[in-house]
Amino acid sequence: MKDEGRRTKDETDAAERVILALDTDTCRVAERFVDLLYPKIKIFKVGIHLFTGYGPGIVDFINKKGAEVFLDLKFFDIPNTVAQAVRQAVRLKVKMLTLHIMGDEEMLKAAKEAAVSEASRLGQKAPLLIGVTVLTSKETTSSDVLTLAKIGIDCGLDGVVCSAREVGLLKKEIKGNFVAVTPGIRPPRSAVNDQKRTATVKEALGAGSDFLVIGRPILEANDPLVALGEILPAG
Ligand code: C5P
Repeated sequence: MKDEGRRTKDETDAAERVILALDTDTCRVAERFVDLLYPKIKIFKVGIHLFTGYGPGIVDFINKKGAEVFLDLKFFDIPNTVAQAVRQAVRLKVKMLTLHIMGDEEMLKAAKEAAVSEASRLGQKAPLLIGVTVLTSKETTSSDVLTLAKIGIDCGLDGVVCSAREVGLLKKEIKGNFVAVTPGIRPPRSAVNDQKRTATVKEALGAGSDFLVIGRPILEANDPLVALGEILPAG
């Protein structure tokens, strides 16, 4: 594996865009992955699995380390409840968080207002609100993803989760700046697991994805550092 100094510009750029999904059974294992992979990976995703089991302590751990948190709890509830949850996430100082675009426009607008007002009250940057379109474990059409993404961005979201298959269309059709977060990233010829709309790092970046979410290809590797090194340049 190459060291940081010998990485090419493209590899360094790709590394900055990788988010490790901390889908681990225990908090201790998640912390070990953060210890091992930070600062090569700078953003760690905390999902429903880890958060349900261990709560916000893991978010504090990641922040104290100097890394950033993608809180992927996929909020979907009535507007007031989602707004309250978003305020709590702002207090946890997460970089970005997810909510379902299918949750309806009032919910999305309430979430945005809550993120901006709570961040301003605390004198900090508002987290990026990322809308989930259609899960990458499901087959769908690009036009369904585009329709949902447009609704999300119109309601003030900062970005959307979509597969590499749709990102080009979204970047072309949706005006203004938004970030595209792409899960379902797999090295060439590797197991896709339960994912359906998968892509390699190279394909996703080439299509215009801003952040790439990678879980099992790194978490289940014999040597996660070697796996990360191989995933990035091999694309
Ligand atoms: O292990 P794998 O690389 O498939 O992990 C992908 C991660 O991205 C999981 O944590 C999953 O919850 C998340 N995710 C996804 N599809 C979405 C949104 C998030 O796979 N649409």
